[in-house]
Amino acid sequence: MTIRDLAEVYELGHTQFKATRWPVLYRSWDEYEVTTRFNMDGGYCLVAENDDPEGPRIAGFILGSVVNKPGTAWSYGYIIWLCSHPQWRRSGIAGRLTDKLIEMMVETDGIRIVMADTDPFNRAARRFFRGRGFDEEFPHMYLCGNIENNPRYRDHLKEARRESGRNGH
Ligand SMILES: CC(C)(COP(=O)(O)OP(=O)(O)OC[C@H]1O[C@@H](n2cnc3c(N)ncnc32)[C@H](O)[C@@H]1OP(=O)(O)O)[C@@H](O)C(=O)NCCC(=O)NCCS
Repeated sequence: MTIRDLAEVYELGHTQFKATRWPVLYRSWDEYEVTTRFNMDGGYCLVAENDDPEGPRIAGFILGSVVNKPGTAWSYGYIIWLCSHPQWRRSGIAGRLTDKLIEMMVETDGIRIVMADTDPFNRAARRFFRGRGFDEEFPHMYLCGNIENNPRYRDHLKEARRESGRNGH
C-alpha cells in the first residue's frame, strides 16, 4: 500500500464496514483509522491492485500489525481489517492478501500466532478464516452505556458541560 492508495482504501472500507450490517466492524472505520494504520504499520498494509484500466483500481486490502508481549519472546500477528471488492468476491483476493501478510510477519517478526476478529454474524468472514485454519473462536462482547441518565456519571457530565460551556445537544 502506498500513500496514493489511502483514499481508495478508505472508500472501499466505507462501503463495506456498515453500521447496519456489522455494528462492531463499523465502530472504528474512518479516515484516521486508515492513515494511522499506514503511519504505524505501513509495511503490514497491503493492497491488491486491478491492472485493468476499466473498473476500480483497488481490488482488496489488508491492514495488519504485530503485537509484542512485553517481557516475553512472544509476538503475534493481528489482522485488523480485511476487505475484497464486491466485484471480485470469491476469487481468492482475500486469501492471497492474508497469505502474503502472514508470510511477511513470519519472515520479519517470527510470529507464531495470528489473530483476527469480526462480527459474529459475518458468515463470509468466519467461513473465510476457518477455511485458513483459524479454528479457535473466542466470543468477545462490546458493551455500551448511555451515561446521560446514569446516576453514577450524570452529575459529572453536567458539571463538565457547565465548565466547557456546552449544552449537550
Ligand atoms: C470476508 C471477505 C474478506 C472474503 O473475501 P474474498 O476475497 O471473497 O475471499 P476468498 O475469495 O479468498 O475466499 C476464500 C474462502 O473464504 C470462504 N468465503 C468467502 N466468502 C464467503 C461467503 N460469502 N460465504 C461463505 N464462504 C465464504 C470460502 O471458503 C472461500 O473459498 P471458496 O470460494 O473456494 O469456497 C469478503 O467477503 C469481504 O471483504 N467482506 C466484507 C468485509 C469483511 O467482512 N471483512 C472481514 C472482517 S475485517
